Amino acid sequence: MKLLVTGGAGYIGSHIVWQAQQAGLECTVIDNLSTGLGDRVSCEVAQIDLAAESAIGQLEKLLSKGFDAVIHLAARKQVGESVEKPELYFKDNIGGLANLLLAMRSTSHHKLVFSSSAATYGMPNKDSVSEDDPTTPINPYGQTKLIGEWMSANAKQWGLRAVSLRYFNVAGTGKAGLADTAALNLIPIAIGQLRAGKSPVVFGNDYPTPDGSCIRDYVHVNDLALAHIAAVDYLGRESRPFDVFNIGTGKGASVIEVLDELKKVSGLNFQYEVSERRAGDPPKLVANVDRMEKELGLKARYGLTEIIDSAWNL
Ligand code: WQD
Repeated sequence: MKLLVTGGAGYIGSHIVWQAQQAGLECTVIDNLSTGLGDRVSCEVAQIDLAAESAIGQLEKLLSKGFDAVIHLAARKQVGESVEKPELYFKDNIGGLANLLLAMRSTSHHKLVFSSSAATYGMPNKDSVSEDDPTTPINPYGQTKLIGEWMSANAKQWGLRAVSLRYFNVAGTGKAGLADTAALNLIPIAIGQLRAGKSPVVFGNDYPTPDGSCIRDYVHVNDLALAHIAAVDYLGRESRPFDVFNIGTGKGASVIEVLDELKKVSGLNFQYEVSERRAGDPPKLVANVDRMEKELGLKARYGLTEIIDSAWNL
């Protein structure tokens, strides 16, 4: 089986390529290498900017080689940046997907796994979020992911079958050399602080949670990568045109619990600082993973300790 993985030179994409190759699948990567690293993957890397005018022709030429499925991750994903530069997010995330869909349509490629996000839920006031809960994104990044789902669903018009995977908080390292080098999320930021001899910062400890800090569903990047392989298999056996799956563990951990686990893993009895809340943070965002388990046949294999241990040591 041949997979085309857009964004495949990124932190998550390179883990998907690695896991796919471990499963005997052949991968080709598309990446504009703006944040991706070509040496993360041992396969062909086509340097294409999906949102560029020239992208459709380049994509059609590449797709004409014939692929069994496309996994689409290439997108901008910084929530804060999306608030500051919304046009950039709509241009790249929506425009890039539009070009990809146009090229897939013209080359008769009918299977797509779309990288979506828990950000599509916005600020749900629930203990755990299910795929049928309201999607009310509160930032342009989350809006682009929801629109991307609509675009993927509408393409059933020409026979596309798509699965959207709503990632919760992805972290950890599955293989040395594939670590998340962009310190944009709690765990890599906290590790970066410690390695610079500084204290991690808790963005607010006055939330309505047991210890006052925000709760998230941290999922190991290897579990997420395997979910993409399972989604490709699902597309091969199911006939519904569009499906959505949360990808998480179903268990929440607070910022303070994450930092306490980091103390154990690192052996450093560090202090953390507490700052004001960060705008737009929901107090709790934990996945209901019933559908992932029942229909994808997947249960997260790794918990918080393994996630943090792999992030610290690999
Ligand atoms: C987690 C918690 C912060 C840093 C984002 C995107 C989401 C998805 C995952 C792509 C929050 C707190 C953070 C720090 C802290 N990305 N924090 N100190 O915001 O839950 O989700 O990444 O799909 O779409 O929104 O992740 O890691 O930024 O924050 O206290 O130094 O850690 O306030 O409560 P988030 P995050």
